[in-house]
Amino acid sequence: MRKPMIAGNWKMNKTRDEAINFTLGVANGLPLNVECVVCAPFIILRDLVKRAPKNLKIGAQNMDYHESGAFTGEISPIMLQDTGVEYVIIGHSERRSYYNETDESVNLKVKKALEFNLKPIVCVGEVLEERESGKTEEVLAKQVRLGFEGVKLDEPANLVVAYEPVWAIGTGKNATSQTAQDACKFIRGELAKIFGQSKADEIRILYGGSVKPENIKEYMANEDVDGALVGGASLKVDSFLALCNYKN
Ligand code: PGA
Repeated sequence: MRKPMIAGNWKMNKTRDEAINFTLGVANGLPLNVECVVCAPFIILRDLVKRAPKNLKIGAQNMDYHESGAFTGEISPIMLQDTGVEYVIIGHSERRSYYNETDESVNLKVKKALEFNLKPIVCVGEVLEERESGKTEEVLAKQVRLGFEGVKLDEPANLVVAYEPVWAIGTGKNATSQTAQDACKFIRGELAKIFGQSKADEIRILYGGSVKPENIKEYMANEDVDGALVGGASLKVDSFLALCNYKN
């Protein structure tokens, strides 16, 4: 029922030429039964939307929650909509830790994204200290509750949640398949409290944190893991294609 998704998060990588070469490189190798997405820097989004093959969706990595105004350096949902992107990552742990994003700003951004027909990929996850002190579920419950408070969700398939334990991002220390499953299942339960079980069953939940072609299959074998949000391994054509084609 939930279409699997492999979403690349390029972070602050790739010039326009590099990004266009990437789209040419993957053009003939993407499967149809998996939704393949790359989330790219703002400045190359319009070019990517224009040039990407049909089965490669494009997303942004952040947006402001204001529609316009005196917010120097920010990008609004109207501007994103204008580029033609389909997805936007919201509340990535790097945004939370380096740019002071909070569950409250995540909440405002989720509401605005949905209002402007952008599909949010909302990141949640605990830091190492929280995991080691047994607080993972408490942290995830709070992030989900505050992040989605008051959100009206007509189309649950348009919302994606990414479980990204902060200790697993860019460290090579990926969570075990069971840890990912347990957290994704817990998150689905929390989503059900907000949106009801049937909508929660349609929301895709991704795992993110050191996902590679070598470990993607283990994650995807889990009931509640519907895909992956991938940083480092999404930058190269070969590894992105291998991730997207994990079924083959
Ligand atoms: P990583 O990053 O795959 O390089 O660990 C994941 C992410 O930050 O979304």
